[in-house]
Parts: sequence; C-alpha cells; structure tokens
Amino acid sequence: MSNYHIKHLEEYFQVYRKSVRYPEKFWEEIAEEHFLWRKRWDKVLEWDFTKPEVKWFQGAKLNITENCIDKHLFSHGDETAIIFEPNNPDEEAQHISYNELHRRVCKFANVLKSKGIKKGDRVCIYLPMIPELSVAMLACARIGAIHSIVFAGFSSSALATRILDSDCKMVITSDGSYRGSKTIDLKSIVDAALEKCPDVKNVLVAKRIDSDIHLKEGRDEWLQPLLDEADENCKPEMMDAEDPLFILYTSGSTGKPKGMMHTCGGYMVYTAYTFKNVFNYRTGDVYWCTADIGWITGHSYIVYGPLANCATTVMFEGVPSYPDFGRFWDIVEKHKVNQFYTAPTAIRALAKENLEYVESHDLSSLKVLGTVGEPINEEAWHWYNDNVGKKNCPVVDTWWQTETGGIMISPIPHSTPTIPTYATLPLPGIQPALMDDEGSEIKGNQVQGKLCIKFPWPGMARTVWGDHQRYKDTYFSAYENKYFSGDGALRDGVGYYRITGRADDVIIVSGHNLGTAPIEDAINEHQAVAESAIVGFPHEVKGNALYGYVILKEAGESRKHENVRKEINQIITEHIGPIAKLDKIQFVSGLPKTRSGKIMRRILRKIASNDTDNLGDTSTLLNPEVVDEIIENSLNK
Ligand code: WTA
Repeated sequence: MSNYHIKHLEEYFQVYRKSVRYPEKFWEEIAEEHFLWRKRWDKVLEWDFTKPEVKWFQGAKLNITENCIDKHLFSHGDETAIIFEPNNPDEEAQHISYNELHRRVCKFANVLKSKGIKKGDRVCIYLPMIPELSVAMLACARIGAIHSIVFAGFSSSALATRILDSDCKMVITSDGSYRGSKTIDLKSIVDAALEKCPDVKNVLVAKRIDSDIHLKEGRDEWLQPLLDEADENCKPEMMDAEDPLFILYTSGSTGKPKGMMHTCGGYMVYTAYTFKNVFNYRTGDVYWCTADIGWITGHSYIVYGPLANCATTVMFEGVPSYPDFGRFWDIVEKHKVNQFYTAPTAIRALAKENLEYVESHDLSSLKVLGTVGEPINEEAWHWYNDNVGKKNCPVVDTWWQTETGGIMISPIPHSTPTIPTYATLPLPGIQPALMDDEGSEIKGNQVQGKLCIKFPWPGMARTVWGDHQRYKDTYFSAYENKYFSGDGALRDGVGYYRITGRADDVIIVSGHNLGTAPIEDAINEHQAVAESAIVGFPHEVKGNALYGYVILKEAGESRKHENVRKEINQIITEHIGPIAKLDKIQFVSGLPKTRSGKIMRRILRKIASNDTDNLGDTSTLLNPEVVDEIIENSLNK
C-alpha cells in the first residue's frame, strides 16, 4: 500500500481509514518519505480549534524551493519544469528546465536581497502570467520573504488596500501585459496604488510589452539589468515549518479582504500530496492548469504542488478566446498535455462555441480533466467529459478554498467512480461534517447541511494576516470545534458530497469570489445613490452574475438612470476591478428589510432569479409593500 499514490478504490478506502484513525502517523510518513527536511520535526501536530491554533511539523527546518527545485537537479535537472505559452501563438513557447529555473530563482533571490529584502518581509507581486511571476514567488520563498500576489486584474485601489494591509516593502510588476488582442498598462495601476503606499521603497519592473513607461527616480527599476548582474547561486534560507510562506487575499462577505496566511511545511506537504493523487501525475506527464497564479489555484497547482513533484507545468499568458475559441485545444495539442485543469465558467463559455474548435485538434494526449472554483452544472460536465475527454478521461471536480490551501474533496482518477456535479469523496486526511441550523452534526447519508471540517490538515491557512480574531470569528465560531467553510453541501446515499453553493454573502462570478459588502460600499460612494444591495442570479456562462438593487437619493428620469448605471459600474471597476461589474441594475424606492433593519437578501435573490412563486412570509417585513414594486419592475422577468 502506498500512502502517497492511490491507485484503486479499495486502496483509497484503506488509506482514508488510516488517515482518520492515525492522522499524525499518516502525514508523518508522507512528510518523511517524499520531502527534504534540514531538521526533523519535534512534533507532528498540535492543535486547538477553539483558539484557533494549528501547527504541523513543529521544529522542522526546510526550504520549499529546495523541495521544488534543488532536490530534482541531480537526476532531472534538464527536464522541463515550466512551459511558458505566450498570449500570441506566434511567439515561441519557452521551456524552462529545472536547472534553468534554479538559476533564475537564485538570481532573482539575490536581487531581492540586494534591495534589503530579508526573511519575514512582505513583497507584493503584481504581474501577468509570465515566467517572472513564478520565479519571483519562488525567489521570495528562497530567502524567506513572504509573497503577497495580487491578481493583475485588480484595480489600483484594490492593490493599494492589499499592499497596506500586509505592509509590503516592495512591489514587483511589469511595464504591462498582453490579454488577447489588448495590452494593459500595469505599471500605471501600480503608480496610482503607490500614491497611497508611502512605505513601498522599491518597485522592480519586468519588461513585457516594451512600452515607454515612467520610472520614478529612487523607487522604480527595470528588473532585467539587476538580474544580469546577480549571482546565480543563492543559499536557501532555513525556515521553520510554521514560518509564513505567503499571504493571499480572499473576499469576505463583509469588510476588507482577508489576507489568508499559509506556512511552509504543511502547505508544501499538502499541495504536493494532493497534486500527485488528484491528477494521477506520472513522471514525464505534461500538466496544465489554466488558472492565474494570482489565485490560490495557481499558487498550489501551477507552482508549488507540481514543482514539488518534479512535474512539467504549463503557464499560459493568454485567454481562451484568442486568437479564437480553439486556443485551449491548440495548446493541449501543441504541448501534448496529459492533465488539464480549468474552471466551469471557461467550459461553459467554450461549450457555446462551434464544436469544430474542439474537434479540429488532437486531444489524445489527455488523461485526466479537472474543474475547480464553483459548482459545475450537469450540462457543462457532460460537454467536457464527452467532447474534451472523449469519455476516456476521469473528470475530477475538486472542491477547496483559498483557506484550505489545497484540494479537499475530489475524485481520485481510476479509483473513485465519478458522477456529474459531485465532488465525491474527501481526500485522505480530510474529515468533513455537515451541520444543521442548531449547530449539531448531521450523521448518516442522504442529508444536507453546512460544510465543516472536523480535524486539521497540513495545508490549512493558519490565520488572517494581522487579524487573528477575524480568522476565529469567520471560520471557527459558527460551529464548536470545527472549521466552517461557508459552503453548503449534501451527502448522497453512498456518501458522496455535492457542493450546493455559498451559505453566506459571497457570490462566485466566473469562479471568482466576490463579497457583496465591498461592492455595495463602492456603489454607495456614487453621489446619487442612497443605498444598495447586491445579489447573485444564475448566468449561463459565469455561473452567477451580479444584480444590484439601488435606491437613488432623488428619483430621476430614465435617461439619467442609464448614466447612473454606467457610472456605478465605473466606480466598481475603479474600486475592485472589472470582474465585479453588475449585469443588472434596478432602481427601487426601498429594499425589503426585517424589523431589525437587515436587508432580506433571500427575497432579492429570488426576484433576481425570477423565482417569485414562493417568496415565503413577507408580512413580517418592515416594508412589505416594496416587494411588489420590486417584482413589478424586475429586470429578470
Ligand atoms: C467554491 C478556489 C463547487 C466554493 C479553489 C468555495 C466550489 C469557493 C468548487 C472557494 C467545486 C470551489 N464545486 N464549489 N468544485 N471549488 N468552489 O477561495 O464556494 O477562490 O468556498 O478557492 O469556491 O473559492 P476560492
């Protein structure tokens, strides 16, 4: 029996049972056999969900980059670590070997050091999907600096909030980025953000689009000349297993984004283990995850998980629709991709296009298909399974979160029989529980409840940066002694899990988590707006789209309304980013509220989804009359 690589269902059950009965022994064996530690741990696990405090492999020393790079150099140094596929298909792809990655990471790490960055410092990375992004994050990890990557689609004010929250000393960015037929001027977004961040001392700028940008004297520098000068060896900093590795922000239903903090040892073990099993990765395979490294999926399953397994991982700079809707399949064919991991929203968008885009490519290299980020609907699942996988590739529907660090519930290819829309069974080491509204665990099968996890796993986030209380309140207070995911789920007759969606005010649009509160705060800044409420409604491609109900200070004529609509989306774009724009904006005279003044979003959600037959009891509302008005003028009838 191999703990590390599960090959059939019986083995899964054996390994799973062991992982629940002897969790410490289970993880200890994996950690021992598959990773390079410079000092062994004193204790495998210490935990207390009431504080909450979780420590894995305490006392151990390691550097994750030694595990992701150096360890492979002796026998696999010439093999490809990263395949970089540029936005423009006519630009040549780069094959970066492990030797070359080592050289680049060491050089970059030495540049960071020369700028005074040291262990524990926070470095913000705001880069497009170019090799420098992976190299920059690994360079931080090499010297023990904590990277905080901000997705390069976020606005300057969203970037500033994140830089300030974790007090970053440096920003790494580029002169711009390519996205399909567009170029985006990233550097000016950084410049605008930094007006609010006086403590950022250095900005390193990678050259990507060759644009003529302004470098601020004494602060900004081109990256390449510094790299050219730098030494190509850099001794890895020895890190405690529980030292921070990175911070990554995720939206909450209220307040500012939460900087989820992940640590070195547990995160490494967990992402590597789950990568190996969920994608059934074999030596020599080419693996491609289409996410952006700015999200957790990219951190764990483009960079750390694959590299820790000495995999070849594809990094794609562009978009699925450029130069046409066949681009994904073109890349699969070109690089003979074996495992392909994407989001349901991308699948739905591609399924709408002519099937010829898929059928004109040779996809016979594919062995495993994965999805992540939101529930996949049955139609999309079948389209993916039939047309991309040719009914020959297991589809792994992987449920997890920024907070969990790695995949939690997912089929294991060739072990777990798949069913469309089901994430199926927990991975070894993961103990899910469904909770009822009274706070008790619901036992047995054929049940539905709030999804919690009962026992720690190595990859879980340890805190919210700078706000441990918020970590406790958000994840460990709803249910005693349990991690609460914020999702609802059902468990079917055989114990398979199906995620039913968020149980809070986070809305997942095109696979991106968006909190309603920050969007409402942005809208309310419009001078004509008195109050607003945002809900999600089903959308064919995005999964959910955003519907805004807005009360204006003064009712105006419809021409004015059109302008306000545009301005509201403009404000949202400036405060958060274009991903948070509203699809529908309905002007209303009031919002349904409870007697304690809370907006009844449940009712607004139903109206936005055109599901008004069963609104429940509205008579207890403070203002029941407003409901009829809102239904009457609904934009989704
Ligand atoms: C949702 C992404 C259904 C869920 C890795 C979760 C999913 C949130 C699935 C986390 C899935 C993720 N099926 N829902 N397979 N995967 N989700 O932090 O609501 O960006 O809580 O992490 O996405 O999103 P995040």
